[in-house]
Amino acid sequence: MSKKEWFDDDSFWVDQYAEMFSDKRFADAVQQAEQLIKLVKPQEREVLDLGCGPGRFAIPLAQKGFQVTGVDRTAFLLDKGRIRAEAAHVEVDWVQEDMREFVRPAAFDLIISMLTSFGYFEDRRDDLRVLSNMLTNLKSGGTCVIDLKGKECVARTLQPTTAEVRNDGTIVVHRCHVADDWTRVCNELIVMREGQPRRTFKFDSTVYSGQELRDRLESAGFSEVQLYGSLSGDPYGLDAERLIAVARKI
Ligand SMILES: C[S@@+](CC[C@H](N)C(=O)[O-])C[C@H]1O[C@@H](n2cnc3c(N)ncnc32)[C@H](O)[C@@H]1O
Repeated sequence: MSKKEWFDDDSFWVDQYAEMFSDKRFADAVQQAEQLIKLVKPQEREVLDLGCGPGRFAIPLAQKGFQVTGVDRTAFLLDKGRIRAEAAHVEVDWVQEDMREFVRPAAFDLIISMLTSFGYFEDRRDDLRVLSNMLTNLKSGGTCVIDLKGKECVARTLQPTTAEVRNDGTIVVHRCHVADDWTRVCNELIVMREGQPRRTFKFDSTVYSGQELRDRLESAGFSEVQLYGSLSGDPYGLDAERLIAVARKI
């Protein structure tokens, strides 16, 4: 049994749902799912969405005819996904499980980890364990895709303190710093809603440079690692806003 970490606090996902999974983010994922398919050209149709949340990618991929399994630890988000999948008349196999534990050997042609769903664990060996599970869960010739904010982009854009007023009037102050010799990004969100007590959420994640992510994937046994700055295949260059790693199991 792993020790409790920030992502085990369901109230974080509930509180941040409207912002993190806005209509715009859902709409963007429809287009991004198409780009993803063009980028990796999966051989067959079994897809695992790891840390699937409410199915931003799982549902459009299922609409395209893929057999999608969505794995996530957060029951609240999986329930949101079930409701949306039903409304979209598609089936997704929703599984509530920790990504460190989920193993279905050689079951998938494509495994995706989107919107920085990788790197949360305090113990870096857990990230390797997730990569090792991914390798096990892929069929030979299968592909994994990891979408993160890379360290190069964090270095370019990090602001120690920002504040915003969200559409519903909520005021959010976001404080952020790097720690552990530039390996972790530590965040604090202070959320103020009219008539409600102030809430503070802390969340951290390991921040990977392109080279570090490539090294981790290769040490886990992946081959042909390629890095991109977007799902449409832009190079991972100075202006990249995302770090997309595509790796094969041979
Ligand atoms: C930023 S959200 C991204 C969701 C989805 N990939 C997307 O693109 O919309 C991160 C997701 O990872 C899930 N998650 C966090 N820790 C997890 C763990 N240890 N095992 C499985 N899922 C986890 C959260 O519940 C959440 O749904």
